[in-house]
Amino acid sequence: MHRFARGLIGVTQISLMICGVLQGQEFRPQIPRVWDDAAIASVTLPLAVASATPAQISSKYYYGIPVRPIFKSYPVYGPDREPAGYLEWLKQQEPQIVFDAAKLKTKDDWIRAGEIVFDAPMSYGHIFRLAASDLYLRLPDWYSSTGAPLLKDGSLPFYRYVIREKGKVEIGVNSCGMCHTRVMPDGWAIKGAQGNFPFDRAFAWELRDQPATPNPATSMIARRALHMLYSAPWIHPDAFPEIDSLDWAGMAQRHEAVPPGVLSRHGTSPHAPAKVPDLIGIQDRRYFDATGLTQHRNIGDLMRYAAMNQDGDVMGRYGDFVPVDALAKAPEDPAKLAGGRYSDEQLYALALFLYTLRPPANPNQPNALTAAGKKVFEREGCAGCHTPPLYTNNALTPVTGFRPPAGDARKFTVMPIVVGTDPDLALKTRRGTGYYKIPSLKGLWYRGPIEHSGSVATLEDWFDPRRLRSDYVPTGYRGYSVSHRAVPGHPFGLNLGSDDRSALIAFLRTL
Ligand code: HEC
Ligand code: HEC
Repeated sequence: MHRFARGLIGVTQISLMICGVLQGQEFRPQIPRVWDDAAIASVTLPLAVASATPAQISSKYYYGIPVRPIFKSYPVYGPDREPAGYLEWLKQQEPQIVFDAAKLKTKDDWIRAGEIVFDAPMSYGHIFRLAASDLYLRLPDWYSSTGAPLLKDGSLPFYRYVIREKGKVEIGVNSCGMCHTRVMPDGWAIKGAQGNFPFDRAFAWELRDQPATPNPATSMIARRALHMLYSAPWIHPDAFPEIDSLDWAGMAQRHEAVPPGVLSRHGTSPHAPAKVPDLIGIQDRRYFDATGLTQHRNIGDLMRYAAMNQDGDVMGRYGDFVPVDALAKAPEDPAKLAGGRYSDEQLYALALFLYTLRPPANPNQPNALTAAGKKVFEREGCAGCHTPPLYTNNALTPVTGFRPPAGDARKFTVMPIVVGTDPDLALKTRRGTGYYKIPSLKGLWYRGPIEHSGSVATLEDWFDPRRLRSDYVPTGYRGYSVSHRAVPGHPFGLNLGSDDRSALIAFLRTL
């Protein structure tokens, strides 16, 4: 056996032995139909501009899209960290399909297969697919420009090399793990935690990676792709109005303004991005996304979330705007959609895996200071919204400037209190429902930046009353060409004395 494969096999054998003892029973799951037309139509909230609420593609079209096979993938290493002869070894490997639902017997098999789906790239080459370089992850410049962190063993956990054809090494991108893996300062990774892959900087690097004389046609395609990702033409003024006047550098600068942990996910915008949420604890969450866009009523909804966000929702019809049409019309025959989709079995395994995610052991143990902080938490009324044990009551709060429609209070869990944070993500984007959900406070010790757009880096900054002033310099996401701005709203805990504040923060870090 080759030295690169040896370590892996050992671990698999041990875990097979353990699960054979613990979970030997046959597991025959009832797999929900993911793209059920009625379930898809009811899973999301109406948008703040109700007439723009999307109608998604039909189940007939969705199930006509070919399923993406999941190929075996291999780690990517940083410059100077790649084992000698690695690329040549990869070129010798045969393509191998690693997800086969027919072979899954026990629940543990399904969960492990779900982890494979989590780590499986969705597409190949680039995140944006307009760049020039081949195997750009071997260029030191990519690492110095993006600042992407490496694991202790020198690998880059956000990307994988994939062999779909013997002799051809491809960069695999856009796995769940690309955005939902956090590398901690000493080089270990927390899977599912608020990711810290510098996605927008990597996007910007690709935008800047053009030939010396760029082809004007490709910059036009890039602008059209930005419309597909970010346009919400029913909103005036548009959240990203300048797309059509940008050259390569201008496009790249917008993305460079978005720090790791925050992401201009499709349907948001580089001017109103979303913090990457922690997926640990997801099974207890009632709403997904900062704006509570998608409900989580059962495991099927988590599968729907993944299917919509990774494959389907850019083909939905938002009033008379279909995002994908801004780039190129989707083919009438779904079989021609080369990108593919997940199978329902893959999504089921993935959801089971996400439900097993647990936080790492918390180094911040309770003591006298945190006990005092717990009292401050109770006295200040935090628990009314951030209710233990989940540290959220799972409700939505309307944002400044949004009047919830009469029926919402009956259909959704709405707390009629406006906390007054910046409303742009909730009002000016395709994910804009007019609400922000009350986030759980668990895991604050390992994640950040916080607030819906990740505007502040730390808890110290969140409870600093200076953040309300217009001359404040946000320590997290600030915005393109913004040197200072207020981080308004959420007045809770802002007028504490310094002892109470330190105690409260120490308590929050134990959660
Ligand atoms: C390109 C980066 C990216 C990729 C790839 C990605 N996500 Fe996300 N994910 C995000 C961002 C950013 C958000 C927050 C969006 C928001 O708040 O509007 C998010 C939100 C979520 C949420 C909502 C959680 C919550 O509590 O609000 C779930 C669930 C989720 N992602 C699961 C997945 C799964 C499963 C995959 C793979 C099938 C995946 N994501 C792939 C970036 C990504
Ligand atoms: C009326 C409900 C409400 C009360 C009371 C409340 N919060 Fe919040 N909290 C929210 C909402 C809503 C958000 C999300 C705001 C946003 O992202 O725009 C939030 C966000 C936070 C965040 C950022 C979390 C993250 O992941 O981004 C922290 C930390 C926090 N609250 C702590 C507290 C503490 C401590 C108290 C008491 C001093 C408190 N909150 C009181 C509703 C509340």
